[in-house]
Amino acid sequence: MLTIRNLSIKYNKKTILQGFNLELAHGEIFALLGDSGSGKSSALRFIAGLDEVHSGSIVLNGKSLSNNGQHQVSAENRDVGMVFQDYALFPHMSVEKNIAFGIHHLSKNKKNARIKELLLLVDLSGVEKKYPHQLSGGEQQRVALARALAPNPKLLLLDEPFSNLDQKHRENLANQVKDILKKTSTTAILVTHDEAEANKFSDRYGIIEQQQLKDKK
Ligand SMILES: Nc1ncnc2c1ncn2[C@@H]1O[C@H](COP(=O)(O)OP(=O)(O)OP(=O)(O)O)[C@@H](O)[C@H]1O
Ligand SMILES: [Mg+2]
Repeated sequence: MLTIRNLSIKYNKKTILQGFNLELAHGEIFALLGDSGSGKSSALRFIAGLDEVHSGSIVLNGKSLSNNGQHQVSAENRDVGMVFQDYALFPHMSVEKNIAFGIHHLSKNKKNARIKELLLLVDLSGVEKKYPHQLSGGEQQRVALARALAPNPKLLLLDEPFSNLDQKHRENLANQVKDILKKTSTTAILVTHDEAEANKFSDRYGIIEQQQLKDKK
């Protein structure tokens, strides 16, 4: 479903990843571990198309997204959703506007129906008109997840989406998100610092060590 071969990432002259390989099956949840600065967020940025890949190839659902710097598909055309740790939502937009962000091509009725459906999925029905600051951290992260899922991405990338929550809320939300991903058969990569979380959340996880991905489970 997703195949990454021989990805290398360099910033200036510094090599961050070298010969990074990853293969994911449809609907599989993979967790990515590694020390701070090991290149986890960088790997997600390249998969999402936010940075250009110069070396290596990425194929998603049979479609080449990047091949040694050639035929680079732009981020908007990748069918890849992303949830970040910070700046998860646009603060000046209501919940419904946030979720509608990636589905403007839909008619008004279809858009509203999709927003309702997603809020039901993340168990937040009725908050359409609220603003992010009127929601708790965990609720905001669930809205961010709804926004990322709205366009039906083929692949969802989650960069430490639970790290600003306390232990209890973190575990609850991680469980909820896992259920939602399984229910929607969404293929996903979760970046986390926490091996226990990786183990619980994912079907399989790996760790970045010495610029490469080592499979753990
Ligand atoms: N745009 C950039 N320009 C130059 N160097 C960068 C850039 N982005 C990241 N780096 C460097 O690349 C390395 C990997 O960064 P990255 O953010 O991918 O690490 P990470 O594994 O996500 O770390 P953390 O767990 O702290 O979030 C770091 O040394 C960082 O300083
Ligand atoms: Mg990071």
